[in-house]
Amino acid sequence: MLKKFTILLVAINFATAPITSLYAQEQSSEPIFEYSEINHPVMGKKGMVASHNALSSEITAEILAKGGNAIDAGAALGFALAVTLPRAGNIGGGGFMLVHVAKLNKTIAVDFRETAPAAAHQDMYFDESGNVAPMDPSYRFSHKSSAVPGSVAGLAHIVEKYGTMTLAEVLEPAIRLARDGIIVTYDLAADLARSERLKNNPASLKKFYKPDGSNYEVGELFKQPDLAWTLQQIADHGVDAFYKGSVAEKIVADMEAHNGLITMEDLASYKVIEREPVRGTFRGYDIAAIPAPSSGGTHVIEMLNILENFPLSEMGPGSAAALHVTAEAMKLAYADRSKYLGDPDFVEIPTDALVSKDYAKSLAAKISMDKATPSEDIAPGNLAIYESDETTHYSVIDSEGNIVGNTYTLMFSFGSGVVIEGTGILMNNNMGNFTLRPDIPDAFGLMGSENNIISPNRRPVSSMSPIIVSKDGKPFLVTGTPGGSKIISANMQMVLNVLEYGMNIGDAAVAPRIHHQWYPDELLLESGISPDTITLLRQKGHKINFNKSSEAMGSLQTVMFKDGMFYGYSDPRRPGAKAVGVD
Ligand code: DON
Repeated sequence: MLKKFTILLVAINFATAPITSLYAQEQSSEPIFEYSEINHPVMGKKGMVASHNALSSEITAEILAKGGNAIDAGAALGFALAVTLPRAGNIGGGGFMLVHVAKLNKTIAVDFRETAPAAAHQDMYFDESGNVAPMDPSYRFSHKSSAVPGSVAGLAHIVEKYGTMTLAEVLEPAIRLARDGIIVTYDLAADLARSERLKNNPASLKKFYKPDGSNYEVGELFKQPDLAWTLQQIADHGVDAFYKGSVAEKIVADMEAHNGLITMEDLASYKVIEREPVRGTFRGYDIAAIPAPSSGGTHVIEMLNILENFPLSEMGPGSAAALHVTAEAMKLAYADRSKYLGDPDFVEIPTDALVSKDYAKSLAAKISMDKATPSEDIAPGNLAIYESDETTHYSVIDSEGNIVGNTYTLMFSFGSGVVIEGTGILMNNNMGNFTLRPDIPDAFGLMGSENNIISPNRRPVSSMSPIIVSKDGKPFLVTGTPGGSKIISANMQMVLNVLEYGMNIGDAAVAPRIHHQWYPDELLLESGISPDTITLLRQKGHKINFNKSSEAMGSLQTVMFKDGMFYGYSDPRRPGAKAVGVD
């Protein structure tokens, strides 16, 4: 099957190749369609973008078409989504980007995750008897639920360091969309109509609803003048406007008025961190992903390493045998996640051990082909330190080979629901990704350890991770997804579907997904898996559940360069998304 997916990668010496034609020199004028495929990705000759908002993808493709590189375009898209996709696009949250800089032939993991405010402490969400209700508003939906945002610093960082445009130029489309308004789409109208959280905060009510409190209708014009002001401040005065200047003052005044913890000092000391990507291989391909404090990269690689020990394509995609082994690999990796992951600036994490092929072999040997191992019989491994409704993802690639894969978030849909008065900034509730106590699961039911406990300036463990797959040193596939704990399993299944089962990125995205995160001990299935297969999985002892959180699992936004052509595919699991090619 893998033969179908032969990539004609020409060995290129990146140091001497003319950068401007890195991908262009291999371009094919022959669009290739395979009639055996069910889902057909979008094509483009000079670049590709895939995001959760069609208008923003189109604007980004225009930037590429006019000569901006993928880094300029990726930053512009991050700001634009803060306007067009308020449930997840943001300047009040944070995330992780993988940036491939063609002229350096280097992939960099940009950590712009939020940090806990200096006044945060381990007991901040417990009542006097040591309890916290899972949906306690002070924990989930208040000024106190926000960590210090990193998005503005992260997006500015990549454009100022690796882009060709100015920060003001990449902010221009977002400012225009906020100031002049956007036409309300079906998905935006539906998102806003059902968000009770936004209606509970006066500044959010004013921003997202009409003056009489009623909902915006599909087709109406929705303007965000306060957000336009904030974005303009950043364009005029740089990131300092947000972290030290006029915007910071408004954020802190609102925090002080509502028991929030974020101070001027917290904002001024926020830092973007460039990290080495965590790296692995699968069937001869190279994988680069986000290291701690995200768990996303480490455990995708751990699962792929385990799965490399099984003849999955012989078993057949979607077969009970292949799904069984995949689910067992997930349990083992999520168990390790619970014990080891934390902020590497605070705790030591045995990343090299977690992604080693030998360790994966020892885990693979524990998998029985006949029987699902109950979660209670699985414990995180004993590893030594070797060495020394919402998130969004988008992927952008240009003809020089620059790449931005960005997964950023407010955490839940519309984050904390809190808009900072006078700024239009919707704040995150990512404090919910800390482990309150090792026996209390986080907002996504994930178990954690002391490694992820709240402490000042620490970054909570995340699952978010863009993934770049390369062959012979050349990146060709970029993907990523929202989905909380399911980000890790969804990303892994995309890589598996393409590299192991030979699917195109459309079929790979659409194929029904499974998820097991160790605890709770249940195998979640999307619809589309045959009842016969489900019976076989039950016979092996899997406790099957359908994804009852009413969400399909993740929504992958993927771009790819293959056989001289750019391809893009927006997973249909979220409405309103679009891949746009550049010609
Ligand atoms: O960092 C994390 O893992 C979470 N804050 C991501 C949240 C998320 O993906 C919700 N979206 N569906």
